[in-house]
Amino acid sequence: ERLRKLLRNMPKAELHIHIEGSLEPELIFELAQRNGVDLAYSSVEALREAYAFTDLQSFLDIYYAGASVLLKEQDFYDMTAAYLARAHADNVRHAEIFFDPQTHTARGVPFETAINGIWRACQDAPLSASLIMCFLRHLSEDEALATLEESLPFRDKFIGVGLDSSEVGHPPEKFARVFERARALGLRLVAHAGEEGPPAYIESALDVLKVERIDHGVRSLESPALVERLAREQMALTVCPLSNIKLRVFDVMGSHNLRTLLDANLAVTVNSDDPAYFGGYVNENYFAAFDALPLDESHARQLARNSFQAAFVDPERKRAFL
Ligand code: ADE
Ligand code: ZN
Repeated sequence: ERLRKLLRNMPKAELHIHIEGSLEPELIFELAQRNGVDLAYSSVEALREAYAFTDLQSFLDIYYAGASVLLKEQDFYDMTAAYLARAHADNVRHAEIFFDPQTHTARGVPFETAINGIWRACQDAPLSASLIMCFLRHLSEDEALATLEESLPFRDKFIGVGLDSSEVGHPPEKFARVFERARALGLRLVAHAGEEGPPAYIESALDVLKVERIDHGVRSLESPALVERLAREQMALTVCPLSNIKLRVFDVMGSHNLRTLLDANLAVTVNSDDPAYFGGYVNENYFAAFDALPLDESHARQLARNSFQAAFVDPERKRAFL
């Protein structure tokens, strides 16, 4: 119908997508075969059946296992090209893509193999795409610092750094020094906060890490003072509706707080997080939220506008997108 057509066709930016989370089971099997990697699953169907998550950690275990088939630069290229083609079909005009180098370097895959493959696909893409390097928060800050040093020869290939993986027990302040160093290098800063973690993690991401966007941030509603601050500062939240249901942050889409966040004047955006694992690319995230919640055409336009507003592109190019 009319609203669905608007959601599908409206130009949008995607600001929260983990490229390793775009690896579809079919491509996992193809790459496993190509690289002679043994998988713990006998078929595409068996792998898909394992995608029954109870929380963030149960997902991460399978997500890191899936990434084990990525060995050669071409593997990273093929994964990224597939995502970009899919995003283009959803009328994404600009994507800011997370990648997790430590997931690969820990398996002996060189940093340059991963970033060169991902970056080359972005260059060849039918839309604008930039990269954000994420540190795995379940690892130490020293390992994050070593990764940042390792990335310096490739400084021109990514625009910022982020923080992902297991949130609870790994607060933002654990990474104060590495974010300080990234800031000194002129990198843009984001962090996952308030997905499973408390509002205090959102506050320390802002105050200690000095991030410019909050990834997820849905638990901000538990703190009225924080909501007021996020609205005043127009701090963008990259919300991922299907992810939040699959990882049981909310029971059902009808209880998602997206509408409440919008009503509080927050700079909310809609994103896919790990589309191959959570049942849909960005348009499916819009559809699922709009089907279950009292959201109309004005909310749709607001969300698309927010996505470009919150993007790390200069104001001139931003106007061209709008
Ligand atoms: N890595 C990939 N997806 C993630 C998520 N939703 N939260 C934390 N780390 C992630
Ligand atoms: Zn994420």
